[in-house]
Order: sequence, then structure tokens, then C-alpha cells
Amino acid sequence: MRTQVGIVGAGPAGLTLARLLEVAGIESVVLEARDREYCEHRVRAGVLEQGTVDLLREAGVGERMEREGIVHGGIHLQFDGERHHVPMHELTGRNIVIYGQTEVVKDLIAARIESGLPLLFEVGDVRVDPDTARIEFVHDAEQQVLECDVIAGCDGFHGVCRPSIPADVLETFEREYAFGWLGILAQVAPSMDELVYAHNTRGFALLSLRSPELSRYYVQVRHDEDIAAWPDERIWEELHARTELDDWQLEEGPILEKGVTGMRSFVAQPMQYKKLYLAGDAAHIVPPTGAKGLNLAISDVRILAERLIEGSGLDGYSDACLRRVWRAEHFSYWMTTMLHKLEDGDAFDEQLQLSQLRYVTSSQSAKTSLAENYVGLTTL
Ligand code: FAD
Ligand code: DHB
Repeated sequence: MRTQVGIVGAGPAGLTLARLLEVAGIESVVLEARDREYCEHRVRAGVLEQGTVDLLREAGVGERMEREGIVHGGIHLQFDGERHHVPMHELTGRNIVIYGQTEVVKDLIAARIESGLPLLFEVGDVRVDPDTARIEFVHDAEQQVLECDVIAGCDGFHGVCRPSIPADVLETFEREYAFGWLGILAQVAPSMDELVYAHNTRGFALLSLRSPELSRYYVQVRHDEDIAAWPDERIWEELHARTELDDWQLEEGPILEKGVTGMRSFVAQPMQYKKLYLAGDAAHIVPPTGAKGLNLAISDVRILAERLIEGSGLDGYSDACLRRVWRAEHFSYWMTTMLHKLEDGDAFDEQLQLSQLRYVTSSQSAKTSLAENYVGLTTL
């Protein structure tokens, strides 16, 4: 088999890249380790920046998102028993759109299949060679070879592409956090109008949503927390305790799904080596507090697609991505450490966090800075 761009991984990065290339008439083959069902039901991110929304729309895969996506012009930060609104649209002219990563992936897979273009699920034993842009893999119990002009490594944090770059070429930066998020999807109308990021002495909580009937809520837990220790009643109890206000109550509903995600910050650079280009989680991870993971993945492949389509400037791909990546790394780290209960934090840390939260919710310029980062309006 031969193609122009061999894409490893059918997450948001790989599928979006394939679509952008298709629109420009560039051939690609997408190879995915898991089955379609698994890819379409892996509950993850939910916040799309305006830039992500615009790109998906321009690529002709935004129709359902336009109909079902929920536009929000602000978020709330809650601490010390009070909720403070950050009016992002008023401050930046930009909105965010709530539309699940599962839905983005479903739309992209459907479009790819409708176009009749190659997307192979359940491939095994994938080996990439950055020198030759040759990919070996097993599909339908047969050994296959895909010869490419370039390889796009979109295979997430645990993929095979990043490890195929020699260790002495790659510089990595990492921070692990002692905490993680326990996330639930609940069949109940969201109790709030916009997202609530709540700092509480019992730990952080986040109130989000997926639709007018589906709420997505998170509580801070230990990074290796055993989900079995969290029966539904305990989750609701913690959510109530961390988010309740004198005049506001959280509505409960059946929990459809729950899971724990550990947190890390990670960057590997450069994001390219010979004929291999990394994009999305394959190259970098942010803790989820800034809602940046999915948006960064899309931003990488937008840059990669532009350079592949123009046929020049691939050398500058990594540098072009990393400026935005590091900005998002800082913002995500800052949001995370401002809002969570810190592992070895003492009363001094708590006072610093509260002071920072008071500043961010009262100073017009600090509020604007948070909003610009959150909506992805940082031009670097
Ligand atoms: P992925 O979505 O990881 O896609 C990579 C794809 O490559 C997968 O389909 C995988 O099966 C496939 N693959 C792996 N290895 C191979 C191989 N050898 N061969 C072929 N295919 C392979 N971000 C937020 O902003 N908010 C959140 O709430 C949030 N929650 C998250 C929860 C979890 C459990 C995780 C892991 C991430 C979460 N993120 C969140 C981050 C966000 O979902 C990611 O940043 C986003 O999925 C990145 O997209 P991607 O396409 O780069 O990688
Ligand atoms: C969601 C996830 C996030 O990481 C975040 O910061 C906001 C919302 C969500 O899953 O809805």
C-alpha cells in the first residue's frame, strides 16, 4: 500500500488531519488500534474553543455541532462560599461551545466513511520508521506495509510514534500531580447555566454538561483513587459539599458512567523527526483544568495540514506548535494549582490560592487574561 500521509491514531488529531487533507485533495490512510465503538464512546473532553469550532465547520464536519453544540459566553469560579462570573464573551468577543469529544469523533468517523477513504480499525503491532516513512502493521491477521511520504503520529500519550524517535533527540518535560479527577456522566439537566470551577477546602469540583439532559461533573480525588471506593451516594455527597451555595442546590440523577483520570503536564520536543510529525497527546499532555487538551490537538493538526498543503515549511512545524503548546501548559498548570487542594499544601498555600482567586475575579485585567487564555485568544 502507498499513500501521501500515513496517520497513526483515530482520535481527534488523526481524524481531523485526515479530513483537512481530504478537503485539499491530499491522500491519507488512518490506522487505529481500537475498534470503532471504543473510539466513539471514550468520554473525555467537552469544551471547544471558537477556533476549533470554526475549523471543524470549515472542514465540512460541523453540521451536527452547529445544531447540538451549546454556546457559552462565560464560566463561573467559586470559592469561599461565593460564585463569581467571568464574562468571557464580553471580555474577549469569543465564546466556547460545549460539544463532547465523543460527538466530534463520531462526526469525523462518519464523514471519513461517507467519503469512502481508508480508515482501518483494530490494527496491531504498528511500527513506524521515521527515516523512510514506512509503517508496518497487522490488519485482519495479515502483515501489511504502508509506504508514505510522511507519517503523522497522532496516537496519543501511550502510542508508538513518540518512542520511535531516538531518546537523545527528544527533550521531555514532565510534572505529575498527586491528584486526579473522578468524572461522572449523569442523566439529569445541568443545575447551572454555565460551567462552575469550584475551589473548596474538601478539594476541587467542576460542574459541566453535555446536553440539556446530561450533566458532566468532576471531583478532585487522589491520582490513583480506586473507583470502587466511590459508590454513587459518596460522589453526590462530595459534589454537594463542594459546590453548594446558600441559594443554590445541585440536582441528582442516575449516573451513566464514571471513571478516574490522573493528571500530568508533559511536553516532548521537537515534535518532528525526519519524516515523522507528532500531533496532539502524542507530543504533549496538559492537566484538564484549562480545557485545553482537545483544542491543542486540533491546533497542531491545523498547522500540520497547512504546511503539508502548501508543500513547504514543514521544518518549522514543531516550533510553530510549541509556542502555543507552552502557553497552554502554563495556563493549565496555573488553573490547576490555583483551584485544587494541594497535596502538601498548608494554610499559607490556601491563603495564596484564595488571594489569587479574589484577584482574578475582581481585577478587570486579570479576568481578561484568564478569559483570553480560556477561549484560546493568545496570539504568540
Ligand atoms: P487521543 O484522543 O488519545 O487519540 C489517539 C488515538 O490513537 C486513540 O484512538 C488510540 O486508540 C490510538 N492509538 C494508540 N496507539 C496506537 C497505535 N500503536 N496504533 C494505532 N493507533 C493507536 N481534555 C480536556 O480538555 N478535558 C477533559 O475532561 C479531558 N479528559 C480526559 C480524560 C482521559 C481519560 C484522557 C486520556 C484524556 C482527557 N483529556 C481531556 C484530554 C483530551 O481528551 C485529549 O487531549 C485528546 O483526546 C487528544 O487527542 P489526540 O487525538 O491527540 O489523542
Ligand atoms: C470539561 C472538561 C474539562 O477539562 C474542563 O476544563 C471543562 C469541562 C468537560 O468534560 O465538560
